[in-house]
Amino acid sequence: MFNLFNKIAIVTGASRGIGKVIAQVFANAGAHVVCVARSEDAIASLTDEINSNGGSASYQSCDISDGDSFSSLISSVAKKNGRLDILVNNAGVTQDNLLMRMKENQWDSVLNINLKGAFHGMKAAIRPMMKNRNGRIINITSIVGLTGNAGQANYAASKAGLIGLSKSVAKEVATRGITVNCIAPGWIGTDMTDELSDDIKEQFLSRIPANRMGSPEDIAHAALFLASDEASYITGQTITVDGGRVIN
Ligand SMILES: NC(=O)c1ccc[n+]([C@@H]2O[C@H](COP(=O)([O-])OP(=O)(O)OC[C@H]3O[C@@H](n4cnc5c(N)ncnc54)[C@H](OP(=O)(O)O)[C@@H]3O)[C@@H](O)[C@H]2O)c1
Repeated sequence: MFNLFNKIAIVTGASRGIGKVIAQVFANAGAHVVCVARSEDAIASLTDEINSNGGSASYQSCDISDGDSFSSLISSVAKKNGRLDILVNNAGVTQDNLLMRMKENQWDSVLNINLKGAFHGMKAAIRPMMKNRNGRIINITSIVGLTGNAGQANYAASKAGLIGLSKSVAKEVATRGITVNCIAPGWIGTDMTDELSDDIKEQFLSRIPANRMGSPEDIAHAALFLASDEASYITGQTITVDGGRVIN
């Protein structure tokens, strides 16, 4: 398996779901992981769990849509550790509605967290990464950003925007040893998807060639690969991890 020995990683949205498992997998692979989310109790207990299992983690509570707080968190992690190797922009939310009924605040809050949060994170992270001439930025988008989805115009726009943002920044920093890639999960079993009705779940399943819902581990293992030294020649890409859903 790929290792992340001595790497310093920040994972947003680490309080539950996909981000929590990415933090655990990165710590198992040898990284020091800074767990970020708004729910302080959840990231504190994840940090305890990682540290008591022989890994290395710390936590900082932050609302990533607050650009100043998120940027200063990243700068302080880089300063304290002498560098920052990996940033995973995983935190994300949905606020679904048909466009006709969508309120401006539903649009703004989804765009502010999913897209602008990643903008703030990347902007702050590339400075220390450039200094080190090494870095990995992994943005968690969604297959909905590739295909669109009725009722999710705000979410799809944020996730498609993240892909364009990642490709652009990948070009800006490629000569500095920094890669910027996206992972586009399909339907992954987390709190976010638990909310779906049984009917919708059945419909989803019928379109997935692998005939199963994905797990957070499926995403975390792709993230581990992209974060590793072995992935140094992959940049500006979006890897779909969806059991074949988008080819169907
Ligand atoms: N599950 C899926 O099927 C699926 C599919 C495609 C893409 N994705 C993407 O994968 C990522 C993780 O999804 P998930 O299913 O694990 O979702 P989840 O279980 O709902 O977890 C979302 C995470 O984001 C954090 N978060 C939300 N808003 C935040 C903010 N303003 N500041 C800091 N942290 C914030 C939450 O922590 P707090 O609430 O504690 O802040 C939580 O840790 C998201 O970007 C999502 O869009 C998921």
